[in-house]
Amino acid sequence: MATNRLSIGNFELENPVLAAPIAGFTDLVFRGLVRELGGCGLIYTEMVSAGGWIDGRIEPRRLAGVADEPKPLGVQLWDRAEAPLEEAARRLVDLDVTVVDLNFGCPKRRIMGKHAAGAQLLRDPSTVGRLVAATVRGAGKTPVTAKIRLGPSVKNRTAVEVARAAEDNGARAVTVHGRTADESYGIPCRREQIAEVVDAVDVPVIANGDIADAASAVETMRETGAAGVMVARAALQRPWVFSQIAAALRGEAIPESPSLEVQRALLLRHHALVVDRYGDPHGTVLMRKFACRYLGGTPGARSFREHICKAEDTADFRRIVENHFPGTDDSRADPAA
Ligand SMILES: Cc1cc2nc3c(=O)[nH]c(=O)nc-3n(C[C@H](O)[C@H](O)[C@H](O)COP(=O)(O)O)c2cc1C
Repeated sequence: MATNRLSIGNFELENPVLAAPIAGFTDLVFRGLVRELGGCGLIYTEMVSAGGWIDGRIEPRRLAGVADEPKPLGVQLWDRAEAPLEEAARRLVDLDVTVVDLNFGCPKRRIMGKHAAGAQLLRDPSTVGRLVAATVRGAGKTPVTAKIRLGPSVKNRTAVEVARAAEDNGARAVTVHGRTADESYGIPCRREQIAEVVDAVDVPVIANGDIADAASAVETMRETGAAGVMVARAALQRPWVFSQIAAALRGEAIPESPSLEVQRALLLRHHALVVDRYGDPHGTVLMRKFACRYLGGTPGARSFREHICKAEDTADFRRIVENHFPGTDDSRADPAA
């Protein structure tokens, strides 16, 4: 591992461990919990449509709270046109965001097909370059980053060209998810191809994909030569994983995972914060997808998931948690208490 320091433009991260943009999950409440649990050097919002925001077609719900939120914070934009990206980046500077990220990796049919954006743009490094340049114009001194995959398809691996186009046009870091857009999560990430991007550009490369814990983060850093790692799915199941990875990368002892009781208290507090923000029963419905990921791998987790994904309101939610994971004293167990 070369170093434990990662700077993106003029911003030096406290830890080279980033929390990925995750549509439907990395909202204001989740970002707050991740910050509190420590270890995460930079967290991103969900992807935001630049055009939708600028034209007023889409209520930028995903930007709720961003202006007043503690920093550092990255906001991820997607679009395939220069003007909205430039203007969106300008507005993000006014919101005092730390990093503006561009999505060139979304494999969803709606984004790749209907909008010809996301991972579709990996077919065309020169367009990626123009979009990065436009965003850099809007962002001024605020660093712009690009999040890419290995290519649009297994037969068309363009990551090196795309990363170079991003760098040549002002991107200050590139995150590489080590799969092509047509590869499912069932296929292991190709770390050696992330390493090819590391060799091809001078800006820091952040490796992403299949980082589940401290050990896989350390291995990924070693095998790719990346300057940092980005974690998505593991963060939903174990939001304390950032502190474990950060400790491992510093060569320190890895903190124990919280006890079941502490995890249970965290889940209940997460639910309370979501309901506080979005009301009930809407907040409870929003929490179902998070709750299904908590407490994974523990005895009774499967039955818990089956029930919690039907929870209707706060009383129901708490009853299901209590039935599956009887607690002792929530206030003592609360990791933030
Ligand atoms: C539910 C879900 C939503 C996602 N949303 C986004 C997104 O908004 N922007 C993005 O760049 N990647 C998104 N991703 C991809 C992740 O950021 C990440 O690249 C991918 O999951 C691989 O990392 P992991 O193995 O740590 O999960 C999403 C992934 C999932 C599972």
